Parts: sequence; structure tokens; C-alpha cells
Amino acid sequence: MTELEMVKVTEEELHQLIQAKLEKAGLSKEHASGVADTLVFADAHGIHSHGAVRVDYYAERISKGGSNTNPNFKFNQTGPSTGVFEADNGVGHVAANEALKEGMKLAKETGIGVVGVHQMGHSGALAYFVEQAAAQDLIALSVCQSDPMVVPFGGSEPYYGTNPIAFAAPRAGHSPVVFDMATTVQAWGKILDARSRNVDIPANWAVDENGEPTTDPHNVKALLPIAGPKGYGLMMMVDILSGMLLGLPFGKHVSSMYTDITAGRNLGQLHILINPSYFTDLTEFKENINKMVDELHAVKPAKGFDQVLYPGELSNIVAKKYEEDGIPIVKEIYDYLQSDTIHFDNYDKADAFGEK
Ligand code: NAI
Repeated sequence: MTELEMVKVTEEELHQLIQAKLEKAGLSKEHASGVADTLVFADAHGIHSHGAVRVDYYAERISKGGSNTNPNFKFNQTGPSTGVFEADNGVGHVAANEALKEGMKLAKETGIGVVGVHQMGHSGALAYFVEQAAAQDLIALSVCQSDPMVVPFGGSEPYYGTNPIAFAAPRAGHSPVVFDMATTVQAWGKILDARSRNVDIPANWAVDENGEPTTDPHNVKALLPIAGPKGYGLMMMVDILSGMLLGLPFGKHVSSMYTDITAGRNLGQLHILINPSYFTDLTEFKENINKMVDELHAVKPAKGFDQVLYPGELSNIVAKKYEEDGIPIVKEIYDYLQSDTIHFDNYDKADAFGEK
């Protein structure tokens, strides 16, 4: 397999291209810009699985009515520190961001804010949300549902989604520590990214239609949970918190990305925001996170490693490099973004893995 041709872009150019394409597909300027914020953040931090590679799919879905372009967003506060944000199947990136703002307000006022996002679309890389909360001196945990495409431990057919977990905590004078992962060995987007780059995947990421490990991203029929029963347990936890808790479809009943591209996805997400100053001295807490990072950096590296990195550090290193060199985007995706094209039958009626 050959590597694809790449183009380097600035954040501004990428934002403008993505926003324009989503507006062309039918999204309002405000929501198109909000989605572009999240996707550019992902590409700019090396999370290419959740960046520009998704625009073609989002544009087709929006143009076919599968994302509500004029949603009635509503926040219902249900207790001193809790609430549910009605997303009305609008784009998930914007809904999750609006819900985050409500949760941060509650955490500032009451010490904790727990906000569910009810009936939303796909919201992308969760680091985008938790990082914003940490920038406001809050600890954040965010979880969301995803398409059922993962084999439960001991099973031979999919039940849960790749159900990601993201966590961030503030530091004094530095970017926060950010831990953000799919509960599968790799996120589905990494398979998409491998497809778009025409590169093989490691044999422990996914299985084919026979349940056998596969290295061809086009043959993937189910993903594997991280660490067997432990990843499987985490994805159950995520599904209960972000689906069942909000009265939404759960497990194998969660909508698939491609099955009906004309209908809303009815997904759920939960943000948990904790205000450290209600538990300890905030300054000391942030300095302790710095101390922890320093101590991690000082741990003797294992063979083959230069240094232990804190969670999220790799993204920060990549972001700094891209700031200087430009963000690499697959040329085919760049050409699509620059064109007037909105595809109308690329994804519709594909199977759960995007294959027709
Ligand atoms: P990943 O495997 O690239 O990284 C997972 C975590 O490990 C990150 O916090 C990263 O900073 C850390 N890490 C990686 N290498 C490290 C190193 N050498 N030292 C220390 N820490 C290191 O992430 P994954 O699982 O591929 O997820 C990618 C994205 O997909 C995430 O942003 C996630 O939120 C998103 N996602 C979104 C879904 C949705 O439905 N909205 C579904 C599934 C994933």
C-alpha cells in the first residue's frame, strides 16, 4: 500500500474551508463555524481521525436532513448542579459545547456541574471539550456514546460503541493534562484515517467478518476493546452514563453512523465538571499537577523511549510542530474541501463500517 499525497495548511485556511463546505451543505454560519472549531482542533493536535477526514460524511448527512440545521437547543436545569441539554439532533460538536458552558457555570457556582446532552449528533474528539474546562480551572470528565461496532469480551458480534472517555485537569502556567481515548484498542476514526492514507493497521485493532484479526482497514467488521474485559467494562460504564442515564437508546440499539443518514442520531454525552477549589487549595492543586508532570518526566525511560510523556503531551508537541510547519491534510480531502462538491451517495446505506 502507498502513502497518499499530503498538503500543508494553516489553521485559518482549514477552518475557512471546512466552514464553507458545511455551510454549503446547509448548516448555519454559526454552527458550521462551531463544527470547524472542533475539527481544526483535532487536526491541529494530530487527532486526524476526527478532523477534516469527517467533513465529506458530515456534509452528506447535513444535506440529507440527518442533522437538524435549525435545532431548538434548550437547557433544563434539573437540580442545583445538574441539567440536561436538549440538542434536538443538531450537530453534536456545537450541542456538546453549549452544554459544556452550562456545566462550567454550575461547577463555578456549586462546586460541581453534571450535564447530559440529549439527542445529539456525533461530537468528534472529546479533548476539545475537556481542555476548555481545564482552561477555566476545572477538572473535566466527558463521555459519549458511539456506534455499536465493538465485540464485547468473549463475544463474536458487536454490542457497544467505541465509547470514548476524556479527562483534563488544570496546571499552573501550562497546558492542562488531557487524557482522551476510545475504549477500543483504536478509535474507529483511526481505521478511517488508515483507509484514507491507504496504510495497513496493526493486527490487534480489529477483526474481519470471521472474527479473525485483520490488517486491512477495508476488511474491518468489528473493533476490539482495550485490555479485554477491562475495556469492555469501561464501555459499559460510558454507555450507562451517557445513554441509559439520559433515557436514550443503549448498547446495540444506539444508532449507526451510516444506516439512515436522513435521520437524527439521538446520541448522548455526559460532561462532569469539578471545581477543585471546593475540595482543596486551587493554587496548590495546580502546582501539584506540575510537580506530578515533572516527576513523570524524571522517571527513567524504558528501552526505546526518550522520555515518559504526560497524557496529552504528544498532542501538544505535534500542535507546536504543525504551528511551525503547517497541518498535513490528505490531498484528496483538501481537493474535496476546495471543490463545490457535496456528495450525495458516498455514505448512505453503507454498513456500520462505512462499506457498501
Ligand atoms: P489515542 O490512542 O491516540 O490516545 C489516547 C490517549 O493516550 C491520549 O490521551 C494520548 O495523549 C495518550 N498517549 C498517546 N501516546 C502517548 C504517550 N507516548 N505517552 C503518554 N500518553 C500518550 O486516542 P484514541 O483512542 O485513538 O482516540 C482518538 C480520538 O477519538 C479521541 O479524541 C476520542 O475522543 C475520539 N473518539 C470520539 C468518538 C465519538 O463518538 N465522538 C468515539 C471514539 C473516539
